[in-house]
Amino acid sequence: MTNSRHVPAPAPNSGTESFDPATPEAWAALRELGHRMLDDMLDVQSSLTHRPAWQEMPEAERRLFDQSAPIAGIGADAAYAYFRTHILPYGIGNWHPRFFGWVQGQGTPLAMLSEMLAAGMNPHLAGFNQAPAMVERQVIDWFAALMGIPGAGGLLVTGGSAANTHALGVARFAAVRARGGNVREDGLQPWPDGTPAKPLVFYGSAETHGWARKAAEWLGLGHRAFRRVPVDAAFQMDLVALRHMIELDRENGLDPFCVMGTAGTVNTGATDDLHGIAQVCREESLWFHVDGAFGALAALAPALRDQVAGMEEADSIAFDLHKWGAMPFECACVLVRDAAINHETFRAPAAYFAATNRGVNAGGAFFADRGLDLTRGFKALKVWMQLQADGIAKLGRIIEQNVRQARHFADAVAAHASLELLAPAPLNIVCFRYRTEAFSEAALDALNEELLLRLQERGIALPSSTRLDGRFALRLAHVNHRATDEDMEMVLSAVVSIGDELRVEMAR
Ligand SMILES: Cc1ncc(COP(=O)(O)O)c(C=O)c1O
Repeated sequence: MTNSRHVPAPAPNSGTESFDPATPEAWAALRELGHRMLDDMLDVQSSLTHRPAWQEMPEAERRLFDQSAPIAGIGADAAYAYFRTHILPYGIGNWHPRFFGWVQGQGTPLAMLSEMLAAGMNPHLAGFNQAPAMVERQVIDWFAALMGIPGAGGLLVTGGSAANTHALGVARFAAVRARGGNVREDGLQPWPDGTPAKPLVFYGSAETHGWARKAAEWLGLGHRAFRRVPVDAAFQMDLVALRHMIELDRENGLDPFCVMGTAGTVNTGATDDLHGIAQVCREESLWFHVDGAFGALAALAPALRDQVAGMEEADSIAFDLHKWGAMPFECACVLVRDAAINHETFRAPAAYFAATNRGVNAGGAFFADRGLDLTRGFKALKVWMQLQADGIAKLGRIIEQNVRQARHFADAVAAHASLELLAPAPLNIVCFRYRTEAFSEAALDALNEELLLRLQERGIALPSSTRLDGRFALRLAHVNHRATDEDMEMVLSAVVSIGDELRVEMAR
């Protein structure tokens, strides 16, 4: 390819405007700015461990964002200076090596650069006859094979909520079709033959992530259609209860159509008995979906693969690449075993997108026909570049490293007189609290909540929190490829020392 440095910039165009620099000198200035941006970003990323994990944004800084829209611009240099001074220091810190909040990935330098390439090339991924579409198709094929359902249809989407909702939508379409209806034509009821449709219901454990409620509402099922199955002491779905609920619901005139297992629950990292759920689904003719938002990626680590066994029996799987896949936001994947039914759920031919036999629209809008979005960006490039550069094996090793560190942390918590593990830690999530005999449950909640805030506000580390059996829990969700063993030690000792400090303060 021609080196763009030697391509003269086009002559200034009299009377017209563009967002491209207008002169060779302006191109040179933008190139210089771009190099500075890159240097600044790599400088920060390579020194994160010496920076605070988070810092509060001062009030004066917040007020800068109340200004009205700029009618005249301030120029790229000034806009970048603004970013560097007033935005860059005040992120939530999820790129930091001691960030363990919610389940948020860190991103990688190479994926950041790939995002620049993707945005620079800016291809439209509705489909089309183009290499970027081949890249997305290849990424989907790789993951379908890695997850054990080679040949599945799939799509890259924004996140786990979108990927799971997509799969539930396909399951709903399949269920209505199996009952003789067509949800796309007629909605949910009545069926075309006049039979009154029974309310469709689906099942997931009580630990299912909040996307399920939103999806039930959005798909017109109503959130009561999402039946929450109790969990056992390991926070796994109780399959006896599941069978019982299905039977009872049928007796009560409801119409079960899907069971969702979770690989890696958001609260504790538990994985349901996926083989067991697959068996129930086979016997009861139900769609089997797996929400593997982060846990599904454990399949890439040889030592952890057994923990998510059964996923390969699913009709659909949703997982994020912006969590344990280390990709910058946004990036998730949905896989549907029966690619044809996925296509039938979303296909929407339009004259203005009709496929041609040759040329740029040969093949048509095949990705748009697999999901909701028509205009889609080149998310696949960052995934493809990272995997090409480092390989699946390295991602698997980092996932194993995170689990080893999380287990070591959980063991250290369990062994410490002032700390208490509040749930088993089978994968990468550790729920725990600082504890002292002298304090009531309410006081322990207050102490641990304050402990969390001090950890954050002192910029030491960023775990998040949850409630388990009514108790406030510090929650360390570890998908951090940057965390060293020393970072883990630092978090543990900071928790103990702030906890000790609070015990004394609160006892006064
Ligand atoms: C198990 C599970 N499912 C779904 C989601 C939602 O994913 P996203 O935040 O990418 O929409 C999460 C997010 O943490 C999750 O942990």
